[in-house]
Amino acid sequence: MKPEWELWAQEAKAEFPKANSALLPLLHRIQSQEHYLSEDTIRDVAVLLKLPVPYVESVASFYSLYYKNPVGKRIIHVCMGLSCALNGSDELMHHLEGKLGIQEGQTTPDGEVSLLEAECLAACNLAPVAQVNLRFVGPVTEDTADQLLTGEVKS
Ligand code: FES
Repeated sequence: MKPEWELWAQEAKAEFPKANSALLPLLHRIQSQEHYLSEDTIRDVAVLLKLPVPYVESVASFYSLYYKNPVGKRIIHVCMGLSCALNGSDELMHHLEGKLGIQEGQTTPDGEVSLLEAECLAACNLAPVAQVNLRFVGPVTEDTADQLLTGEVKS
């Protein structure tokens, strides 16, 4: 456990007195520092907030923006929800897997890019949609798909 986490937990509890409400911002803050939430981190957070470890694990697993494994600097989420599926998200995912040489759920060996799927990102009017480090991009065409990898993408 990093020394500052205790202070961060106190700050989260001051803002959100219920421990289960303080959990989300604390996990987010720690993940921003660590880049993912390891099993040890999950246990530390449970101790800090006096919550059961399985509860903290379930919350960290439920939300797709909490990462249980190290991720790359550029995190690409491809929406696989119904509207996006009907507009080519499978093809988009396969295209990106081919370009990156990795499968969904993996990170390139140089640690630059992680490719992840997401459930409906609530931007169905932009289907097929991707998120690059939380920035929405869509509709993603074959031409713009490669820009997701280079940072030239416009949302
Ligand atoms: S199904 Fe993709 S944003 Fe809703």
